[in-house]
Amino acid sequence: MLEWVELREKVLSRVKPSEAEEKAIRVFSGETIKRVNALLQEAGLEASAELHGSVAHGTWLSGDTDLDIFIVMSPKYSRGDLEKILGVLKGGLDGDYVEAYAEHPYLRARLGGYNVDFVPCFRVDPATGILSSTDRTPHHTKYLEGTLDDELRDEIRLLKQFTRGVGVYGAEIRVGGFSGYLCELLVLGHGSFTGLLKAAAGWSKGTVVQLATGLDDYELRERFREPLVVVDPVDPGRNVASAVTQDTFWSFVAAAKAFTEKPSGRFFWGPDVKLGKMDALGLLDGSTDVVFLVVDESRAEVADSLWGQIHKSREALARQLEDNDFKVLGSSAWSDEKRRHVFLFRLEAESIPQVAKRWGPPVSLSKNAEKFIQAHRDAPGTVSGPATEADRWYVLSKREFTSARALLSQLLEDGGRNVGVSRNLSIRVLQHHRLLVNEEIEPYLEEGLVDHLYWFLKGRPHWLD
Ligand code: UTP
Ligand code: MN
Repeated sequence: MLEWVELREKVLSRVKPSEAEEKAIRVFSGETIKRVNALLQEAGLEASAELHGSVAHGTWLSGDTDLDIFIVMSPKYSRGDLEKILGVLKGGLDGDYVEAYAEHPYLRARLGGYNVDFVPCFRVDPATGILSSTDRTPHHTKYLEGTLDDELRDEIRLLKQFTRGVGVYGAEIRVGGFSGYLCELLVLGHGSFTGLLKAAAGWSKGTVVQLATGLDDYELRERFREPLVVVDPVDPGRNVASAVTQDTFWSFVAAAKAFTEKPSGRFFWGPDVKLGKMDALGLLDGSTDVVFLVVDESRAEVADSLWGQIHKSREALARQLEDNDFKVLGSSAWSDEKRRHVFLFRLEAESIPQVAKRWGPPVSLSKNAEKFIQAHRDAPGTVSGPATEADRWYVLSKREFTSARALLSQLLEDGGRNVGVSRNLSIRVLQHHRLLVNEEIEPYLEEGLVDHLYWFLKGRPHWLD
């Protein structure tokens, strides 16, 4: 396939760091590690700084300036010491720091033009039990050191760029997709990028990929119960693909199928057209209605917690809409993760007819029928009936809400806590929110949201011909 040979070179020429880039990042990380080790020593701590993640593996993508420096601590310390160790770094290095963590403390710094994550972990053997979730990382690096060569590194970079292009790269909650380490293992497991994609084109739910053989596929599927199971070679108790959701799993499979049939640069890069407000608004053509909930943020949480709450709240509100007879065709959320969150609900119609036919019990179930008649005969909402049709009772009654906006407005009056909006978001909702329908969103269409809305309405992956 000449086409792919050429495309492959083109992709690699963009994602493979140049020698200069590679050298700069190595020099900088070497120096940083030296400085950190000096600080740790000065403080009398039994811990050492090490480079891990994709830079250590030689699989980072050109232009990515993320460095993962792990502070590997003696297991004589405990979880309570993690912060103390980070405190030593903060005191000794200058630069901008954010302490950003949901579950495991780490420090994110802007240093020398790089985003450096300082992540503490314990020096333990994962096979005998980890003390914190990041303890496996040094073992990943060691494992890959012994198995990767430059050819495989190219193949991994292709897969990372492919998953990025398709929108499924990243294990964070916002994405629920493929982590860098997962991409590394998948390529290892199948020998090459195209080898993996060919396999992925035929994946089904509960696919198991094993590198260290010997475990029973059936047992693994039973144990992990996730769409994709890739056993961590350094810890058989861990599914490296545990973050992959149904949605990202199947969109990856769909893209893999399409790509193997017809490779194209589209899979690797997002669409290259710059979208404007009118592109998005043009798709709001009245064939369906979109209700937007705009929530302003003042103190956003760490991305993973935030997106966990956004997903949960979106699902809860969509359920309320459905329970009130609004047909939800799709829902989504966008956030800049700092100032504003926008929920989008695409409905068959924002406004629905006043009267609905509600079915009651069969005539033969006398007790239930009696109850149904009692409940509806004099109810203010009853327009017609109760009456029987064939074997069942029914009634025509007025809906409480004929407007989705009005329904949401009422549900959100107290922040929406009672209908499943997460606690922190409900506080923001209570402080201030807006419910907008269709083109009323226009003044709020900032960059980012424009693209989000466009693709939400378009409802088609950009790689689809
Ligand atoms: P990163 O999230 O920085 O990934 O995690 P990465 O492999 O370096 O890829 P990019 O290029 O930055 O996107 C750093 C290390 O943490 C462990 C892996 O060992 C990884 O190499 N890790 C991270 C996991 O095992 N699982 C995860 O979901 C995330
Ligand atoms: Mn990284």
